[in-house]
Amino acid sequence: MCIAEYVLGIESSCDEMAAAVVRGGREILSSVVHGQVEVHSPYGGVVPELASRDHVRAVSAVVERALTQADLTPARLDGVAVTAGPGLLGSLLVGLSFGKALAYRAGLPVVGVHHLAGHLVAAELAESSLRPPYLGLVVSGGHTALYHVVEGAEPQLLGETRDDAVGEAFDKVAKLLGLGFPGGPAVSAAAAQGNPEAVAFPRPMAKKPGLDFSYSGLKTAVAIEVKRRGGLAAMDTAQVADVAACFELAAVESLVQRARRALRVEGAGRLAVVGGVAANRLLREHMAAAAKRDGFALVFPPIDLCTDNAVMIAAAGARLLGRGERDSLGLNAFSRVAVGQAPWRPGRAERGGELT
Ligand code: KG4
Ligand code: ZN
Repeated sequence: MCIAEYVLGIESSCDEMAAAVVRGGREILSSVVHGQVEVHSPYGGVVPELASRDHVRAVSAVVERALTQADLTPARLDGVAVTAGPGLLGSLLVGLSFGKALAYRAGLPVVGVHHLAGHLVAAELAESSLRPPYLGLVVSGGHTALYHVVEGAEPQLLGETRDDAVGEAFDKVAKLLGLGFPGGPAVSAAAAQGNPEAVAFPRPMAKKPGLDFSYSGLKTAVAIEVKRRGGLAAMDTAQVADVAACFELAAVESLVQRARRALRVEGAGRLAVVGGVAANRLLREHMAAAAKRDGFALVFPPIDLCTDNAVMIAAAGARLLGRGERDSLGLNAFSRVAVGQAPWRPGRAERGGELT
């Protein structure tokens, strides 16, 4: 496979402004991530308008730092890769516009990257021996989906959430339990102090056929439990920890159950788990135990490649550029687009992807 040499990646689909330089689609020369926890904390969730405003303030310095750390000027690059979707439109547009302007000024090709294709590539970056075919479980704040990753073709969707994403459920439960923002790590930290057998929450979709997920019922079960205990104000720290532990266990067990079923149904022997929720310690432990029991190979990227970053965008972009893919300066951002579709690339835009 042909892969572009020096590629700058820019990622700004949600509340992280990130830039990175990757060599040969694999070697990380720099990675800069500017988060916005203090911007959104008072609201207990990401406020899109505030996210894009902060991106505008950060983008120039973040990209500059990534180039300086890599000891490269734009002229030395072979291309620029930017996240074109899915994500918050205002946020996406900041990184995308900056990337296009930089590419134009330096006379470089620019390519739009699908955010989830980026998350999937992170697994191959983490484990150099990992090659398609394998199953990819994407677990993030916006997505929960299983893909069959095959050589030379777009990942094939096997199942996805019918309602909330698992990361979204972590974030909403954090809010219900007064644990703050960002929710995933906060729930996980509280859960570590709790008793995972205190409440029997449902295991979403466990008895349903197919490979879809669902998390809104579990989130509602947590809300009902909080109410049953007299509301958050009536709960002490130990009770909050118990509910957090029971929720985390139910969420993790449902992910493991679906992944094991997918491996069985597809006859696959390798699984990569990517996206922000792949940073979760309990998920890593339970998935590793399942891999040992069932005998499948398992890859989790390191934590900084699980949560949003630009290394994965540069790496995915290097592969696209190497295949000769290019986008025009008319490249636009798309808030919703399925993996495998690139509505921003004329000729491959037959289906889906809506311009919002
Ligand atoms: O991939 P990501 O950084 O952004 C999206 O593309 O959505 O994922 C963010 C999500 C958030 O919902 C966050 O709460 C969750 O990942 N997350 C975690 C952990 N770290 C981040 N969830 C559970 N446990 C964690 N340790
Ligand atoms: Zn993400």
